[in-house]
Amino acid sequence: MVGKNKDSIPQIKRFLSEVKQGVVPQTLWTYKEVGHTQEAKKELVAICDFEDSASVFITPKPVRLIRRILEIATDKDSLVLDSFAGSGTTGHAVLDLNRADDGCRQFILAEMDENICRNVTAQRIERAIKGHGTQLALGGGFRYCTLAEPLFDERGNINEKVTFPDLAAHVFFTETGQPIPKRATGKTPLLGIHNDTAIYLLFNGVLGDKQPDGGNILTNDVLRNLPAHNGTKVIYGIACRLSTQRLKRDNIIFRQTPYEIRTR
Ligand SMILES: C[S@@+](CC[C@H](N)C(=O)[O-])C[C@H]1O[C@@H](n2cnc3c(N)ncnc32)[C@H](O)[C@@H]1O
Repeated sequence: MVGKNKDSIPQIKRFLSEVKQGVVPQTLWTYKEVGHTQEAKKELVAICDFEDSASVFITPKPVRLIRRILEIATDKDSLVLDSFAGSGTTGHAVLDLNRADDGCRQFILAEMDENICRNVTAQRIERAIKGHGTQLALGGGFRYCTLAEPLFDERGNINEKVTFPDLAAHVFFTETGQPIPKRATGKTPLLGIHNDTAIYLLFNGVLGDKQPDGGNILTNDVLRNLPAHNGTKVIYGIACRLSTQRLKRDNIIFRQTPYEIRTR
């Protein structure tokens, strides 16, 4: 115990400058503080051309509500994920708060309905950034991405629709933790070099042999035809005909597709 009478306990001293400024969060938020559904619908109609947006989103959230949550839950450099993006309020609120407190929060919005995604979510975010009608331009930016084909089918085989460049991008990223330096063309099995390790992919007859297994098996011939690299070589293919000693001698790590393609 501390203090004059030995009946006190130590406490952390916090200066005002260390405390987040603003209103202390309460359990009950009134609409005066964070808005209501009608306000959210008006916000949406004001920024989107989507004809019947108000009826598509029955209970949209007002920007003020999400912004309040972000004020409590994020730092200025947080990454915010909304995997049910809908009308895009979350992204809008991130941009709004960034502008207000000079933050650099980023956001990822995921929306599965392509029509909503393009004509509501993306349109709203673009207009929030650039300004629209009487609405102030909040600044910032975003990239619109679409998902490619699933890599594997239900049996765990590589999906027939997956192209060489898509698989190459995935393999390079999971192998190195870095994006592929240049989108693969499908004309060479060498995907790129990372930390002096070259990554190769034998898939879809990249070496010119279109037979089902042709060119996708690591043999002596195939190895001779690979673009040379002096350091370690990581080679993905459906099978390997080289001995363990040979692989060791030539500094090769072989990974069998599809089993050794990592999914995360
Ligand atoms: C209620 S809305 C989201 C509201 C939104 N956060 C806002 O701005 O107010 C839900 C959205 O999630 C989308 N959705 C539902 N399941 C999904 C999934 N598995 N992946 C991505 N989007 C999904 C729906 O298409 C719908 O547009």
